[in-house]
Amino acid sequence: MKKDLISIYDLKTEEIESILHKAKDLKEMHRKGVPYRPLEGKTLAMIFEKPSTRTRVSFEVGMYQLGGHALSLSPQDTQLGRGEAIADTARVLSRYVDGIMIRTFAQERVEEMARFASIPVINGLSDLLHPCQILSDIFTIEERRGQYRGLKVAYVGDGNNVANSWINGALRLGFDLWLACPPGYEPNAKILLRAQEEGSSQIILTHDPKEAVEGAHVINTDVWASMGQEGERAERIKAFQGYQVNADLVHRGEKDVLVMHCLPAHRGEEITDEVMDGPHSVVFDQAENRLHVQKAILTLLMGKGQNDEQGR
Ligand code: CP
Ligand code: NVA
Repeated sequence: MKKDLISIYDLKTEEIESILHKAKDLKEMHRKGVPYRPLEGKTLAMIFEKPSTRTRVSFEVGMYQLGGHALSLSPQDTQLGRGEAIADTARVLSRYVDGIMIRTFAQERVEEMARFASIPVINGLSDLLHPCQILSDIFTIEERRGQYRGLKVAYVGDGNNVANSWINGALRLGFDLWLACPPGYEPNAKILLRAQEEGSSQIILTHDPKEAVEGAHVINTDVWASMGQEGERAERIKAFQGYQVNADLVHRGEKDVLVMHCLPAHRGEEITDEVMDGPHSVVFDQAENRLHVQKAILTLLMGKGQNDEQGR
């Protein structure tokens, strides 16, 4: 059966561990200049219904380095923009390419693409989730701290796609997660409750950023207005006062606390220049690691033997 990457929740802990393990090997091979081309002759279609820098470039460069090819499709230059159904697009693309990465608005669009495609579908961000980002962030934590299990990870800011995927990550990988969000901007209630019920680690929602970051090993944040919420920006800036990751907040974390942001950042809003450019920040490692983790995902989903019985 083909395997998709729609949500971290759908992955078994061992599957996540094998992605992280593979990413570590691939990063080392990349550093040493060892060629590795398991996706020779394979093509990834990348559908972007929202903008992207890191996801676009890391998937495209990743496919190239793995011996394959990627093509970037936007609604403006495909029939998706003129209302062609996701299901039909999925069936057509399955006849041409070997994998689909989609960045879109509703999570249902990603799920529909996966349902109708006979090839692996990867969620490159939806309004609800951003799984590839959080897999890469967990890789960055392991790289810096040697482990993620048992750590206290704090997330300060909007209960958005990034926050929801952190919750799924904590559930599957067993680190404690403290989320501090303003009232009315909490993460998805169903995802949170499910993780609290099914998980063995602490997953705690508070309105108090100081409580969330107290002794934390990692402090995360993200923009206050995500893509598609630009019209709410002014009211969100008001609601998020007190939720900025600044030097005061970082000092409450553990002395070697890592500060993370998936980027792009709105400097001076959710994070100060001082913190983003300071000694605790690993934001550019996170961005770099998107490449290595994406390559691991692509290899595991699209590599030889993964979809032999798909029978196109
Ligand atoms: N972090 C992230 O997904 O960045 P892009 O929006 O630039 O892809
Ligand atoms: N929460 C942000 C993440 C960007 C990578 C957004 O959806 O715009």
